[in-house]
Amino acid sequence: MEKEPFINLVKHRTSCRSYEAKPVPREHLELMLEAARLAPSACNKQPWRFAVVQDAGTRMRLVKESLRVGIEMKWAANAGAIIAIGVRSKGLVHKVGTRITGVEYPQIDLGIAGEHLVLQAEELGLGTCWIGWIKQKAVRRIVGWSKDVAPMGLITVGWPAGERKTRPRLPLDEIVKWI
Ligand SMILES: Cc1cc2nc3c(=O)[nH]c(=O)nc-3n(C[C@H](O)[C@H](O)[C@H](O)COP(=O)(O)O)c2cc1C
Repeated sequence: MEKEPFINLVKHRTSCRSYEAKPVPREHLELMLEAARLAPSACNKQPWRFAVVQDAGTRMRLVKESLRVGIEMKWAANAGAIIAIGVRSKGLVHKVGTRITGVEYPQIDLGIAGEHLVLQAEELGLGTCWIGWIKQKAVRRIVGWSKDVAPMGLITVGWPAGERKTRPRLPLDEIVKWI
């Protein structure tokens, strides 16, 4: 069987903000989390933490209590699962490294892991949307994380309903310098 080029998967993914009211099978969520778990991270620190919320009441609490006003996100209530993503910074190594270079390694690591998860979801036919417009303390309280985990966002997961919008990207010559 011929392999589907990876770029097609990437091209097909768009943020999904409309979902069918259908649960997401646990095996699908586990495969997505496995893809995230295998992501690279600075010094292999693996600072990412995930809280998978399938329970309807808790999903509603996330939507009602942890999203900031200003961006319409009621659609998130229809996603079969919401995955909270957080960073558990391991003291010195992360802090010293970031102080020396100015690079926020744990956040980069979480971004990579989060996108592994999203692309695995895409391959399974699921839709996702990153949500960064959150109240960190509310997310932490609702998913029960301790203070050493900093929530960085939510990723909604569900079966896409309706059309998805393709948003434009900057052309390569505007973002790349060849030397
Ligand atoms: C870190 C991050 C945070 C985001 N936060 C939100 C958000 O709070 N609400 C929302 O509706 N979309 C959010 N998005 C989705 C972006 O708006 C979307 O990825 C971007 O417009 C490009 O569109 P596309 O994903 O459909 O290609 C976020 C995306 C990222 C990567």
